[in-house]
Amino acid sequence: MKNILYTLTTIVLLFACGTAKRGEPAFAAIPDSEPAIAQGRVVFDTFCNKCHPGGEAGLGPAINNKPLPGFLMRFQVRHGLGVMPAFSEKAISDDELDILIAYLKTMRKAKHDKDAQAP
Ligand code: HEC
Repeated sequence: MKNILYTLTTIVLLFACGTAKRGEPAFAAIPDSEPAIAQGRVVFDTFCNKCHPGGEAGLGPAINNKPLPGFLMRFQVRHGLGVMPAFSEKAISDDELDILIAYLKTMRKAKHDKDAQAP
């Protein structure tokens, strides 16, 4: 029952999110030169971007501004929490999860570097 409620809430919120205005990209350009990072971006855009747009807060909180350790982000992806769904190995393989976590760390570093440059 709880799960159904979460699912319905998610669907409603996703529609609500669809019309939300997107601001300026909040992070510096992320180098696509590393293939793993580029692949990580694809995984992120496919599964995470709708709720954490560009790593910023959307339906979910910002995930580019806090030093969450890799194992914790993995746990969050595999198990979900609250409105955030769990992603099994069928959706995101272990290899894809590795490159996703690498991408999240790159995204965080890009955000950190950009903030450091701000006047
Ligand atoms: C349906 C929307 C949704 C999707 C899709 C989603 N998230 Fe989330 N995420 C959330 C919400 C909501 C929370 C906050 C959960 C809570 O604390 O109750 C969250 C929390 C997190 C956190 C912890 C942030 C913190 O402040 O502790 C991480 C890390 C995270 N998400 C990563 C991801 C990744 C990586 C993906 C893609 C695989 C993803 N999320 C997909 C909604 C989503």
